[in-house]
Amino acid sequence: MGKVYVFDHPLIQHKTAMIRKIETSVKDFRELTKEIAMLMCYEATRYLPLMDVEIETPICATKVKMLQGEDIAIVPILRAGLGMVDGMLALVPNAKVGHIGLYRDPETHRPVEYYCKLPSDIDRRQVFVLDPMLATGGSAAASIDFIKARGARNVSFMCIIAAPEGIALLQGEHPDVDIFIAAKDESLNDHAYIVPGLGDAGDRLYGTR
Ligand code: PRP
Ligand code: URA
Repeated sequence: MGKVYVFDHPLIQHKTAMIRKIETSVKDFRELTKEIAMLMCYEATRYLPLMDVEIETPICATKVKMLQGEDIAIVPILRAGLGMVDGMLALVPNAKVGHIGLYRDPETHRPVEYYCKLPSDIDRRQVFVLDPMLATGGSAAASIDFIKARGARNVSFMCIIAAPEGIALLQGEHPDVDIFIAAKDESLNDHAYIVPGLGDAGDRLYGTR
């Protein structure tokens, strides 16, 4: 069974509190999203496998630990997941980036796919799917369905705010997937928005409301 990690690092908690505020500007929301993603990347990558490597320093030969391979792919769910990409790339600059376009049908709240382009070697990569919000879990579960259907075998999901309903759905449909979360909220409202949440992440990132 995949694990659920809720990060309690004070910087992550503080910045997540800041993006929730109604008065946070689009510019600040964007910067905070990037910073939170970078801090979460630092925490989430602590589980990457290392290997022993022989190197030479100017003083002598020695054995050091290095990552087993530069084999990470990050896949933001459009639109809002895009806001987390640069924060991840700041720490793993050689990661390949795929894109999945999904939107929630406003009536049914079910995800509808409109775009998918992934690295051709996705099957050999540790994949981090990014989206700031895990609400009903429909978008995340459907995205991971598409990514697995294209060969991915090692997938994690990273979000800033998650509702218990979304965590349960994702764990039910993809029990192999680790879930990394900055804050776990109380519930969903009648419009399937997270409570207390931060509102519509895509609109707040791009000022489209
Ligand atoms: C938001 C959010 C997630 C989805 C979460 O995207 O960024 O992708 O809703 O909801 P769920 O867990 O109930 O599926 P939205 O559909 O509003 O699209 P956008 O990013 O283009 O604004
Ligand atoms: N999508 C968002 O952007 N916010 C929510 O609270 C739920 C879904």
